[in-house]
Amino acid sequence: MKLTRRNFIKQGIGAAALSLVPAPYSFAMAQDGFLEIRAIKSEQKIYPGDAPESTLWTYNGQAPGPEIRVKQGERVKVRFINELEEPSSIHWHGIRIDNAMDGVSGLTQEAVKPGERFEYEFVVPDAGTYWYHAHNKSWNQVARGLYGPLIVEEPYPTFDAEHDLTLVIDDWRVDRNGQLDEQSFGAMMDWSHGGRLGNWLTVNGGSMPEIVLKAGEAYRLRLINVCNSRVLEMDLNRLGAKVLAFDGQPLGQPEVIDYSPYSFGPAQRVDLLVIPQEGKGFALEELSGDTPFPYAHFKVTGTGGNKTSIPSLKPNAIPAPDLEKASQHRLHMTGGAMGRIGKVFYKGKELQGEDFPRTKQFWAFNSVANLSESPFFSAEIGETVIIEFINDTAFPHAMHVHGHHFQILEREDSEIDEGRPWKDTFLIGPTQTTRIAFVADNPGKWLLHCHMLEHAAAGMTTWFKVT
Ligand code: C2O
Ligand code: CU
Repeated sequence: MKLTRRNFIKQGIGAAALSLVPAPYSFAMAQDGFLEIRAIKSEQKIYPGDAPESTLWTYNGQAPGPEIRVKQGERVKVRFINELEEPSSIHWHGIRIDNAMDGVSGLTQEAVKPGERFEYEFVVPDAGTYWYHAHNKSWNQVARGLYGPLIVEEPYPTFDAEHDLTLVIDDWRVDRNGQLDEQSFGAMMDWSHGGRLGNWLTVNGGSMPEIVLKAGEAYRLRLINVCNSRVLEMDLNRLGAKVLAFDGQPLGQPEVIDYSPYSFGPAQRVDLLVIPQEGKGFALEELSGDTPFPYAHFKVTGTGGNKTSIPSLKPNAIPAPDLEKASQHRLHMTGGAMGRIGKVFYKGKELQGEDFPRTKQFWAFNSVANLSESPFFSAEIGETVIIEFINDTAFPHAMHVHGHHFQILEREDSEIDEGRPWKDTFLIGPTQTTRIAFVADNPGKWLLHCHMLEHAAAGMTTWFKVT
């Protein structure tokens, strides 16, 4: 499914200028210092014009959920209260966290049942842009609205509140009325192809917002891709933007990405530095369709007379991989439409013919679909691991490692040399091979999966152990 405007009711941008940032701190702080986050159903408009509201699953009644802002090194205390009819849990994406707080239902905790609660308590080691989202049946729960931004501020002054904007980008699949298309949840076609792709994009829950910036001033735009499966394609040159950080982790210098499109995968974050020029408005555009599809507009006011200074961001302390002493692991990714899957084991049994549509397992890592008893690999604390990902499928994937950030050592078949920034999620194209490395310094059981959430559910999920 593509994003084309002609599928939809005509709508005016003027009327849709929406408040930009999800209200921060709009959650109750309990007496004991816990932030309370409730998973509840809530009515919200996701498509403009006369479209009726949709029933979303939200944190505290809004999608995105409230922006959590804390300082680096601070202890975060969240009381999660599940008022939905389905069990759930919260994962803190990109936070190098204690394993018990990672929020993965079925691996690090039991899903929190309807009416029950769970207390998360952890220290945030890295400054940067992160997010939180449901991690039980994520393909369903995240698509219905269970996500929010988690911003960890640097302990020194950087961009002030006026120049620091969070933009949570989601693609919704809406029906002819402009309401969340509920019928199509779990569609086999999505699971075996490119995942659930939406047909309408929102920024912070609003359609086509207009954001007003001042000429000549330096802004940090924190983009978070919370789409189930959409790789957003953008042209950073057209935005006049430089990259400050990937997946929360700052680069040494703001960097120009001169190729286009820049592919921004599901779950990834990119912090952009933008200094608007007088009278030159610009837009965030999705470029994967036939024509550019703008989904947020930036209006520039003022003359840019004020000189601006660009704050610099210090790197977080992540241990450097010791490549000489690394252990090596290989992940062979197979399956999906137009691909081979070969032998597949699911819950210890080999799948045959009819088992595939019945179990909805269409993908495999090293011939195993989904979690097995034994881990993909075990590492000792402090050990450097190198993982080679071989994408033997006809689709791109957004591979995410829990509990650690890694560096990309090499991408075969790619002309892009991106240096070695730290990431927690990387895109791998069809038939490509990519090697990553990290120090396994965080004890526990960690998930490694495709963040195209239908792929994860349909087999592309494994785990590793650090002891
Ligand atoms: Cu964004 Cu398994 O997580
Ligand atoms: Cu995938």
